[in-house]
Amino acid sequence: MNDKFAQNEQVIAVVGLGQLGRGIAACCLARGFAVVGVDREQKNRDLFRKFLPEAVAHCLEAGVIESGDAGEWQDRLELSEDLAPTSRACLVIESIAEDMPAKKQLLREIEAVVDEGVLIGSNTSAFPISDLQEGCKYPERVFGMHWSSHGHVTRFLELTPGEQTSAQTMACAKEIAERLGKEPAVLKKDIAGFLCNRIAYAMYREAVHLLESGVADAEAIESSFRNSVGLWAPMCGPLRLIDVMGGGAFYAESIKGVLPTLASSTELQDTLESFIDQNAKGPKNNIGFFDYEEDDAEKWAERFTAAILSTKKYQDQHIPCDSPASAKKTVMVP
Ligand SMILES: NC(=O)c1ccc[n+]([C@@H]2O[C@H](COP(=O)([O-])OP(=O)(O)OC[C@H]3O[C@@H](n4cnc5c(N)ncnc54)[C@H](O)[C@@H]3O)[C@@H](O)[C@H]2O)c1
Repeated sequence: MNDKFAQNEQVIAVVGLGQLGRGIAACCLARGFAVVGVDREQKNRDLFRKFLPEAVAHCLEAGVIESGDAGEWQDRLELSEDLAPTSRACLVIESIAEDMPAKKQLLREIEAVVDEGVLIGSNTSAFPISDLQEGCKYPERVFGMHWSSHGHVTRFLELTPGEQTSAQTMACAKEIAERLGKEPAVLKKDIAGFLCNRIAYAMYREAVHLLESGVADAEAIESSFRNSVGLWAPMCGPLRLIDVMGGGAFYAESIKGVLPTLASSTELQDTLESFIDQNAKGPKNNIGFFDYEEDDAEKWAERFTAAILSTKKYQDQHIPCDSPASAKKTVMVP
């Protein structure tokens, strides 16, 4: 890594301004960075510009910022169809669709434009970072940077080292993540699906198993989960829950009895397999676990946003971050 990192410290580039990239770029703007937003589709660059007032409103409502407007954010934004302006950035975040060859190709193209000292984070959902690093010129500066939807508001970020990622890169990544208002979960090892998706996928497998086994209908599975896990999840994760809601001895005893009956198949279940064949998109094409009306996709999107905004406010009031979002630190130059 070299001085280019320090020199470009205030500029972050986001490549891919789709569902996820939009929130990532808005997060960087909300936290005062200048942003280079790259998308090969003019339509998606336009959509991002249109999204800015909404993103500002979300950030104001959730207390991410105290003041600000889309005009001021635009002054710090450069949109581009190609990678050339990413040379100004200290960090390039790739957020194109989940396609391994396309992501590997893009990493090579980014490396051809940026200097050696520029960090590259990949917002892959589930690809091992070590695989993405193959063929990179400087694999030590490539790391996993896994965001969730509404990245401009949430605290979520998983930082994952590939086999070749340097410790310095991870230290810098953590520091930038904190400047972006995140509570980064830093993994010690590269593993497919990282943390939250692995935990979630185990849960999804069990939910589908309960449905397929005729134990309960989809409505019952939903209400049971929503009204139990849904209540405590904004407060704590499963390990803390075991500690504070009965203790490990109690939980271990009850888990021991149920464990042999839990879903453990390594094959995709029939229902999920059939969803691939049908291109199921839930409320968007009325193929999924439930039946949907025409405006349900929009209704669920609104509910999702409302849940995220209120959860952020709840967490800021009751669950302070160990590293406060407002902490402005100097980024270490490796
Ligand atoms: N959707 C989710 O809930 C979610 C959650 C976490 C992480 N992710 C991950 O985030 C990444 C992006 O997902 P998404 O849902 O935003 O995808 P998306 O398809 O909505 O957006 C991808 C964008 O990248 C652009 N693009 C594609 N190739 C490009 C290239 N070579 N150069 C410039 N622009 C290019 C496309 O035009 C599009 O706008 C994926 O790796 C996905 O797995 C998704």
